[in-house]
Amino acid sequence: MIGLGVVAAALIASRVSASIVGYPISGSKHDFKTTGYTGDGGTFVGHNKCGTCHAAHKVKKVSPLWGRDNPTATGWIVWNGQDAGQALDGTENTAEFLSAAELTGTGTGMCMSCHDGQTAIGTYKDATGTSVPVYMRAAYRGTWGRALADMHPVGHVVPFGAPGWKADLAAGNAASGSNVATEARGSVGCTSCHSMHSSSPSGKILRAGERCLSCHDK
Ligand code: HEC
Ligand code: HEC
Ligand code: HEC
Ligand code: HEC
Repeated sequence: MIGLGVVAAALIASRVSASIVGYPISGSKHDFKTTGYTGDGGTFVGHNKCGTCHAAHKVKKVSPLWGRDNPTATGWIVWNGQDAGQALDGTENTAEFLSAAELTGTGTGMCMSCHDGQTAIGTYKDATGTSVPVYMRAAYRGTWGRALADMHPVGHVVPFGAPGWKADLAAGNAASGSNVATEARGSVGCTSCHSMHSSSPSGKILRAGERCLSCHDK
């Protein structure tokens, strides 16, 4: 019994130290229960603080009990060092870039299931009982949509170990004291730098430490 207790305590301690629980959903921009969200289409109010993203039953992704559909896998363009960007159609450069289906299945897809402005955050019932979808405000998104060529690369496999790059951080990056993470196939995505829960208490939900220097050796 004592042995088990020690193991349990050690497990709890390691889990606590590995996660930074700093961004309270309540009262944040991601709290859809308290005030709801007025976007393009109207005001959507969530039925609880967690349920707009998570589901207890009939989940869409088992981890993290995700209740939302992935955005559809069409029209994605990401940074490739040129203005035109890289179309994620899965036909070229598959060693360096994820396919659109891979991208929308990662953490990036979770964020973009609202932040693309094309996937409804939620719906409300109007006076006639018709379900009206509410989307992210275009004024907030700026030019995003699915054209992500003018922001930091996402959907790009990180060339860890090459000159100018750190060693693979798949096993965590204790060296820089950061909790930066990779997405599918060791790629960079929204949840590389951001995390809904393991992040700073500020609205930017940024992961801890020297984020940029977890991948770039500059
Ligand atoms: C706006 C969307 C959103 C809302 C609202 C939300 N979460 Fe999450 N949650 C996420 C995302 C994205 C992840 C994936 C891991 C991450 O980004 O930190 C996650 C992961 C989790 C995890 C597993 C991993 C971890 O970091 O602990 C738990 C547990 C969790 N959420 C609980 C909750 C609870 C409880 C609530 C309500 C207070 C809530 N979440 C509200 C988006 C959300
Ligand atoms: C359920 C829909 C939803 C999901 C999923 C979601 N967001 Fe948001 N997010 C919003 C809304 C709505 C806002 C407020 C936009 C506005 O002000 O018009 C917002 C705001 C933000 C802000 C700015 C907060 C501030 O205080 O200025 C950041 C940063 C952000 N989201 C990042 C993310 C990241 C990263 C993910 C994925 C881990 C994510 N969001 C997932 C709906 C979502
Ligand atoms: C390379 C790291 C990195 C990646 C990848 C990344 N972000 Fe960010 N993001 C940041 C930083 C750093 C800020 C804070 C910028 C500032 O305060 O000037 C930020 C700010 C934001 C904001 C706040 C609005 C604003 O303009 O200040 C939103 C929303 C956001 N990110 C969403 C996303 C989404 C969605 C993705 C994926 C498509 C993503 N980010 C990918 C690092 C990143
Ligand atoms: C998870 C790994 C990762 C993190 C964290 C990360 N980057 Fe990157 N970054 C990449 C990848 C992958 C590329 C694309 C590289 C390529 O194609 O040569 C890139 C490209 C860049 C470029 C363009 C370089 C060029 O060749 O023109 C800049 C600038 C940059 N990142 C800055 C940043 C900054 C600033 C941060 C912190 C806010 C950051 N990165 C965080 C992986 C990362």
